[in-house]
Amino acid sequence: MIDPGKSVPLTLYDAIQAVPVIPVIVLQRVSDAIPVAEALIEGGISIFEITMRTNAALPGIEKIATQFPEAFTGVGTVLNQEQAKQAVESGAQFIVSPGTDRATVEFAVASGIPIIPGVSTASEVQHARNLGLHVLKFFPAGAAGGIAMLNAFSSVFSDVQFVPTGGVTANNLADYLALPNVVACGGSWLAPARLVADGQFREISQLTLEAIEIARGTQS
Ligand code: 3PG
Repeated sequence: MIDPGKSVPLTLYDAIQAVPVIPVIVLQRVSDAIPVAEALIEGGISIFEITMRTNAALPGIEKIATQFPEAFTGVGTVLNQEQAKQAVESGAQFIVSPGTDRATVEFAVASGIPIIPGVSTASEVQHARNLGLHVLKFFPAGAAGGIAMLNAFSSVFSDVQFVPTGGVTANNLADYLALPNVVACGGSWLAPARLVADGQFREISQLTLEAIEIARGTQS
């Protein structure tokens, strides 16, 4: 279930509008994949970004996508077209990259897979926009200028929406989500490596619930 008020979200965009938080997950062990996804679902989030930073990523994506077909299982930290292809073959339903690589974008568009590539400067936003993309990851959000930078982007890129990621936490989530050009925020704070390693899945559900409450507070 993505959102109690919306029975069946049709697209990833609908889903992130309904629950505007994307957990970034670094899986060290394939055996953690299902418990982490379950913990996030328990807390109210059915969108997962599994990063291509470990060998557990592809088998983890496959397990989660198979076990939770109604969720949105995506791949993050995609650096090139080959990684995107491998992830999609493993079941990834969306692609997130730290930067914008034309070949990766072209592969995603040709495959009908949503892609949210990363940008951190006006030139990069312009480049990604001119590739036809209007939802972009603002990365690393905190280090690249945070809210002030997003406000500056809004005056010139009125048809672009952002997913700030990198330095987002429960403490600044509401501030980011309050911006009209922010559709969702991403981050690792919901499923931190330490909690996953220690099997503290209840805490992950708690952090997820807390994030949902913060997000709901900005949506009313
Ligand atoms: C990412 O992969 O998008 C970022 O590394 C997440 O950044 P965070 O750990 O600051 O949330």
